[in-house]
Amino acid sequence: MSMPAPRTGRARERVLTMRGIGKHFGAVKALSGVDFWVDEGEVVALVGDNGAGKSTLVKVLSGVHAPDAGTIEFDGEAVEIHTPADAQELGIATVFQDLALCDNLDVVANLWLGRELVAEGMLDEVGMEERTWTLLRELSAKVPSVRIPVASLSGGQRQTVAIARSLIGDPRVIILDEPTAALGVAQTAELLNLIERLRERGHGVVLISHNMADVMAVADRVVVLRLGRNNGEYNVADITSETLIAAITGATDITMRQMVQDAARKHPAPLPETVADDTPAGIIRLADGRPKDGRGRRAPRGRDES
Ligand SMILES: Nc1ncnc2c1ncn2[C@@H]1O[C@H](COP(=O)(O)OP(=O)(O)O)[C@@H](O)[C@H]1O
Ligand SMILES: [Mg+2]
Repeated sequence: MSMPAPRTGRARERVLTMRGIGKHFGAVKALSGVDFWVDEGEVVALVGDNGAGKSTLVKVLSGVHAPDAGTIEFDGEAVEIHTPADAQELGIATVFQDLALCDNLDVVANLWLGRELVAEGMLDEVGMEERTWTLLRELSAKVPSVRIPVASLSGGQRQTVAIARSLIGDPRVIILDEPTAALGVAQTAELLNLIERLRERGHGVVLISHNMADVMAVADRVVVLRLGRNNGEYNVADITSETLIAAITGATDITMRQMVQDAARKHPAPLPETVADDTPAGIIRLADGRPKDGRGRRAPRGRDES
C-alpha cells in the first residue's frame, strides 16, 4: 500500500499498523485481509456501508474481539491485544457510541472513575477538578460546570466529557465511533473543532463516520471498507465526497446512474405532449409514438434500453 504524504508536511511517527486482519463470526466473514495504520497527529476516517466491518476492526483494536488472522504493531513492536485493559495499557482509547457515562455522577467523577487521584489517603477532589478544567480548556470545550451530573448536559457536552475521559490515560490513539451521529449542526461543528485539538495534541485519531461532510471537513486520510475488505485509501485533499461514495458503494457507474435517476425524480420533466388515438385506457402515447404505461414509465424499446 502506498503511503500518502501528510497534509501538514511534517514527518509523523507511525503509531499503529494492522496487517492482513481477518475475523469471522461463524459463517460471516466480517474482515478479510484488512490493512490499516495510524500516524501520530493525524485524523484517519474509517468509512463504509452498514456491515462493512468498521466496528469489528475497531473492536479488534480495543481488545473486544480477537482477530483470526493478521498482525498488529504498536510503535514498531508486534503486539497482541486480548482485552480492553491490554488496549488501554498500550495507549489505545475508544469512545463507543453509547459513551458509557454515569449519568448521576458529575463531570469530574466521570473523568476519573476507576483512576481517582488520592492525596494523603483521601480522594484528591481539588486536584481532579483542577486537572479536569485544564483538560477541558485545552480542548476548548464548553462545559458550564464540572460539578453537575452529566445527565443535565447536552449531547455535544456529553460527547466532550466522554472524549476528555478517554484522554486521562494519555493515549496515543483515540477511536471515535460515530461521534456526531446524535448531534445537531452547532454541536457537530464544536465536536469537529475538538477533533482538531486532539490532532494538535499529537494523538492519532480514528474517526468512524457516516457523514461525508464531517469526514471531508476534519480527516487527513480516509480508509474505505467494503464487505469486510479494504476498498480504497485517500488523502482527503485529493478527493471529493462523490469519489468516497463511489468507493463505499463499490461502483462508480451505478452511483452515477443513481444520481441521474434521483435528479430526474426530484425535478420531473413536464408531461410530454399526448396524441389522441386508439391507445387502450391506462396507456398514453408519447409524441414520439411509443406508448407509456399508467405509471408514467416509457415502455421499453428494446433490450439494450434501460
Ligand atoms: N458479534 C457478532 N456476531 C455475529 N456477527 C457479527 C458480529 N459483529 C458483527 N457481525 C457481522 O460482521 C459484519 C460486519 O459488521 P460491523 O463490523 O458491525 O460493520 P459496520 O460497523 O461497518 O456496520 C456484519 O455482517 C455483521 O452482521
Ligand atoms: Mg458499526
